[in-house]
Amino acid sequence: MTAARPRVYVAQPLFAEVLAPLAAHAELAVEPVEGRRDAAALAAGLREADAAIVTIAERVDAAAIAGAARLRIVANVGVGYDNLDLAALRAAGIAASNTPDVLTDTVADFAFALLLGAARRVTEAERWLRDGQWQRWSFDRLLGRDVHGATLGILGMGRIGQAIAERARGFRMTVLYHNRRALPPALEQACDARRVEQDELLSRADFLIVAVPYTPATHHLIDAAALARMKPDAFLINIARGGVVDDAALAAALAAGRLGGAALDVFEGEPAVDPGLLAAGHVVLTPHIASASRDTRRAMVAMAVANVLAALGHGPQAGRPPNLVGG
Ligand code: DGY
Repeated sequence: MTAARPRVYVAQPLFAEVLAPLAAHAELAVEPVEGRRDAAALAAGLREADAAIVTIAERVDAAAIAGAARLRIVANVGVGYDNLDLAALRAAGIAASNTPDVLTDTVADFAFALLLGAARRVTEAERWLRDGQWQRWSFDRLLGRDVHGATLGILGMGRIGQAIAERARGFRMTVLYHNRRALPPALEQACDARRVEQDELLSRADFLIVAVPYTPATHHLIDAAALARMKPDAFLINIARGGVVDDAALAAALAAGRLGGAALDVFEGEPAVDPGLLAAGHVVLTPHIASASRDTRRAMVAMAVANVLAALGHGPQAGRPPNLVGG
């Protein structure tokens, strides 16, 4: 009698060709329809699974895994994993993994896309053009803010923060950062960036990019008080996670003209977006796509596949999934 093949639940219809290596070792149960899984559908998928691949759109908490007696690993397709309740997974003896590094450059590229888009009013100008307004052109319309030579503040100087600093060189920006710990001097020199305290960062940055992970300690790190410290013509760019910025406070600051503008890829309670942000001018809003390049999203899924294969005892890292998180 042959042993039953393990079952791998995949919570989104991810790239079939990238998932294919799993099929040699497991039954694949891939959700056929994109969109957010509700709690019941997710729990049902996890219940029969030996391993699961989820995205940051799925919240894997104690309730989701309550009936998942066979589950060995939840492989998150994302470097951030605040969607996983690590304590609940640990208590249930379920491993968790993420997809670091592979998206660093793609996210850093996108941080600059947002920064430039907001500074130079790209999306606003496009709306104006599509609206048939070009006849009303005037020399002083849609004036933006120069990026070259400006001061860039990076809040959170991990791998993505460092990759952003690298890009800022091409724009001859002065780069300041705040991180709990300073980078080693050689790395700081390589990034051409100087560590300052958070208040100084807020008050000196012309463009502030938020790149910290979301944890209880970073919840509303950028709140009304932090926004009030920023220059009245500064721009805030959030590529980290919704919840690090108090979106309602940001919308209020924008409405009151206390900030130059903002560019946001992540939102508190996404996919919902604070109506105040939707109504604000000088704001670029994107639906959490910082890592969404053709190659990078595939590479992220491939990493999740490698983690699952290892957890199921296959491949060069059998028994040792390479990207475990949460101890
Ligand atoms: C991540 O990997 O955490 C990104 O936010 C996903 O796009």
